[in-house]
Amino acid sequence: MSTLSALLMLHLLALILMAGTTFIDFINYQMFWKLFNHQRKQADGILSASAKFPRLIGIGAGFLIITGVGMIALTHGVWAQQLWFRIKMIFVLLLIFNSIFYGNRLSARLRAIVRLDEPGLAQQLINLKGKLRTFHLLQLGFLLMIIFLSAYKFN
Ligand code: HEM
Repeated sequence: MSTLSALLMLHLLALILMAGTTFIDFINYQMFWKLFNHQRKQADGILSASAKFPRLIGIGAGFLIITGVGMIALTHGVWAQQLWFRIKMIFVLLLIFNSIFYGNRLSARLRAIVRLDEPGLAQQLINLKGKLRTFHLLQLGFLLMIIFLSAYKFN
């Protein structure tokens, strides 16, 4: 097996880890909101079960970047000059920025609010619910665009 094929295989495994965990994270939040008003204990359980997801998503993203850069280096930057790749990199940046500056902050705020359990909790959570949903839908949309561009490789 050539090094390029090995890198591509790792690239796709990292994609499974990142996209899969992002999707499960989204499903978990949907369950959290459903249970929160009626079964608070179960809802808290879901929140703590998904506490490790950002780390897994980060590991997947890290491997995607390392293996991607490796493939570019091995092919002497041929892909880097193509249109699909340049647009893909814009979406990769959007994915990273949305995660660092929006998603991670929102989930940290959610955990802090739930932990403090202060009066007015419900109202504060309603504000976060829509934002977290938007965050996840954006991430899944960006991932879909990146996969589409990588598969079709139009130039
Ligand atoms: C979230 C981030 C990323 C996702 C979801 C992703 C996904 C994919 C997918 C689905 C393929 C198609 C593999 C195939 O042709 O069968 C691919 C190929 C490729 N990716 Fe990525 N990728 C990501 C980030 C990156 C980054 C950061 C780079 C480079 C810096 C990169 C470089 C490449 C290259 C060069 C190929 C072509 C490999 C080939 O066709 O042999 N990718 N990527």
